[in-house]
Amino acid sequence: MTSTWVSVLASYLHLLAVAVYVGGSIAMELVVGPAQRFVPPAQAQVIGQRAADRFLVLVWSALALFPVSGMLLFFSLGDEHTLSGTRLFTTTYGQTLLTMMLLWVVLVVNGAVITFVLRPRLVRRASARSGSAGTAEHLQTMQAAARWVSYITRADLVVALFIVLLGASMAYGHGLV
Ligand code: HEM
Repeated sequence: MTSTWVSVLASYLHLLAVAVYVGGSIAMELVVGPAQRFVPPAQAQVIGQRAADRFLVLVWSALALFPVSGMLLFFSLGDEHTLSGTRLFTTTYGQTLLTMMLLWVVLVVNGAVITFVLRPRLVRRASARSGSAGTAEHLQTMQAAARWVSYITRADLVVALFIVLLGASMAYGHGLV
C-alpha cells in the first residue's frame, strides 16, 4: 500500500515535470515566439527576455524534479522492473532507462549553455546597445546568441518529445531501445 502511494506520488511529480518542460517549451516556441513578430523589435526583445527569464526558472525546476521523481518511481515499481547486476545494460527496459537518463544529461548541458553562456551575452549586449549607440558588431553578437538559443531550444524540444516516447514505452511495454 505504502509503495503504491509512493509510486503514485513519484509518477505524479514525474509527469508534472514533463508537462512543465514540454508544455512550456511548446508554448514558448509556438505562442510567445510568433506573437513577438507583431510588435516592434525593441519591445519584442524585452518580451522575449522577460519570458525566457521566467521560463528558465520553470525549466530548471523541472530538470531537478526529473531524476528525483524518476528514481523514486523506479525504486517503488514492482519486482519485474528490478535491474540488478548488468540488467541495466542488457535488457531493453534497462537500456531505455539508461537512454532516458543520458538524454536528461543532454537537456541539462544545453540548459546550462543557454543560462550561463548565451543569456548573459544577450542581456549584456542589449543594455550596452541601449546605453550608447550600439555598434553593428554588438548587434551581430546579440543576434548570433539569440539564434543559438533558438536552435538549442528547438533541439531540446525534439529530445524531450523523444524521451516522452521512451517513458511511454517503459510504462506500457518493455522499453524501446
Ligand atoms: C534522470 C532522469 C530520469 C529518470 C531517472 C527517469 C526515470 C523514469 C522511470 C523509472 C520511469 C518509469 C517507467 C515505468 O513505468 O516502468 C519513467 C517514466 C517516464 N519518464 Fe522518466 N526519467 C528521467 C527523465 C525523464 C525526462 C527528462 C522526461 C521527459 C522530458 C521523462 C519522461 C517520462 C515519461 C513520459 C514517463 C512515462 C510515465 C508514465 O506514463 O507513467 N523522464 N522515467
